[in-house]
Amino acid sequence: MKLLVTAGPTREPLDPVRYLTNRSSGKMGYALAHAAAHAGHRVLLVSGPTALEVPDGVDFLPVETAAQMFEAVSRHIGRMDAAIHAAAVADYRPAATAEQKIKKTGETLTLELLRNPDILGSCRDAFGFDGVLVGFAAETGNLEANARDKLRRKGCDLVVANDVSQPGIGFDSDRNRVLLVHPDHTEPLPEDDKHALAHRIVHEVEALLAAKHRA
Ligand code: PMT
Repeated sequence: MKLLVTAGPTREPLDPVRYLTNRSSGKMGYALAHAAAHAGHRVLLVSGPTALEVPDGVDFLPVETAAQMFEAVSRHIGRMDAAIHAAAVADYRPAATAEQKIKKTGETLTLELLRNPDILGSCRDAFGFDGVLVGFAAETGNLEANARDKLRRKGCDLVVANDVSQPGIGFDSDRNRVLLVHPDHTEPLPEDDKHALAHRIVHEVEALLAAKHRA
């Protein structure tokens, strides 16, 4: 299959030397890209900035901001059979990016933030994607209910939910513990290395694609 994977954080610039970002290392998304390429699939990895090496045999499209990731996904998703959105996209960006370094002036500084586009949420209607669509849900409470809500709202076939309040799993860790949230059932997977989980998630995507072709 042809698979697009998003990975890593996005960086939303405030000025030439500062940005807003999050703790995503890219490990989960890169493990998915690696597992899919290893299984013989054609993979395009659209990634925010990380310190990771691009897995062998994977096509790579580096981006920095959510707007750039949105543009890259909108340009390439049309020729994909499946897409997995593991990136931790910043929901907001600074309303303005200063051309010069922002100077210290008052005791407080108020930033105005603008909502970024929802890339996963644009796949079905705005991009017209009808392949297998997999989202992630990073939650700190009500894991299954929030993930199921994302599954419905964003038109996903599967949401991989992780509790990012737990130490040792989720953001910037080699391990993760996830729920596979399907439209009609939920399957909890035991905590494991991200590479082992990635192989399992790629198998799920293969099965979902086969079921779509049969329907
Ligand atoms: O990178 P690691 O350090 O390995 O950490 C892995 C991870 C915790 C980042 C990963 O497992 C994970 O949960 N990724 C999704 C993080 C996230 O932003 O979740 P969310 O619940 O805020 O977003 C829901 C879904 O919408 C995600 O598929 C996200 O990629 C997507 N999204 C979110 C906002 C936005 N503007 N556009 C999007 O496409």
